[in-house]
Amino acid sequence: MMPLVCPLCREPLEEQPRQLRCSNGHSYDQARQGYWNLLLVQRKRSLDPGDNAAMVQARRAFLDQGHYAPLSQRINGLLAGALAGHDEAVELLDLGCGEGYYSARMEQALCAAGLNVSLTGLDISKHAVRAACQRSRTARWLVASGADIPLPPASVDAITLLFSRLMPESMAKVLKPGGLLLLAWPGDAHLIELRRHIYSDVRPSGYDPLAQLQAHFSLEQQHRVQYPFTLTDSDSIQTLLGMTPHSQRLAPEARTSLHALTQLGLTLDVNLAVLKRL
Ligand SMILES: C[S@@+](CC[C@H](N)C(=O)[O-])C[C@H]1O[C@@H](n2cnc3c(N)ncnc32)[C@H](O)[C@@H]1O
Ligand SMILES: [Zn+2]
Repeated sequence: MMPLVCPLCREPLEEQPRQLRCSNGHSYDQARQGYWNLLLVQRKRSLDPGDNAAMVQARRAFLDQGHYAPLSQRINGLLAGALAGHDEAVELLDLGCGEGYYSARMEQALCAAGLNVSLTGLDISKHAVRAACQRSRTARWLVASGADIPLPPASVDAITLLFSRLMPESMAKVLKPGGLLLLAWPGDAHLIELRRHIYSDVRPSGYDPLAQLQAHFSLEQQHRVQYPFTLTDSDSIQTLLGMTPHSQRLAPEARTSLHALTQLGLTLDVNLAVLKRL
């Protein structure tokens, strides 16, 4: 695995038992769960940035129900295809990895496809990364900011950015020339049935990440994954709600009507794109 760099001075970090240390004497302790916290207190914009504990727990409970497993398989297939023939170790970074559902499945699938993959999962939420540690013991898990990735320039073979905020400059910086970027973002029909329960006027988001990547990336492939799935009990519906940003914006009437639901048919609609670092 490639060495990390010090978020304070950018010197390489040397790994010692349960500690990372740079030549300037900056040191970072390993958390009990196994992850490294490289988020500098002085650069945090909030005391507890990223997804909170409740959102992380809801995301884990929802993803573990398996409704997004076909999406995860599709992502793995695209990655394996794009990395096929790579005969050296593949440095893979899952940026905004959350609680590690997709990350751990990618690691397994790529190993099964015969690739020698070193996975780093990075998220700004310590709650998410703590949970992610339980998904894989072989991956390296980091609490850090995606805007300031603690990896050497041009050291990464592939980045996955799944439902997470786009940070074009920092992604371009750590990717090798020709390195891959796999993006997933919601299509206009994604969970539309849930959003119709919450908002009186559901509109297309107009979000187009590809337009923001043109300076550093070329588009290689684009796909759309769409399928229906059904939640068949009230707990699952509440869990899904808990992992989306919609729950915070819920009006009391919508909260009550969603609580009363015991079944909800939903659409998964996700855009996938594979880009290459120029
Ligand atoms: C919608 S979640 C997606 C998580 C995971 N990729 C998944 O699909 O299950 C977005 C994640 O981005 C993280 N995040 C937000 N801002 C970030 C930043 N500046 N750097 C790194 N991660 C960030 C959040 O903590 C959250 O875990
Ligand atoms: Zn340092």
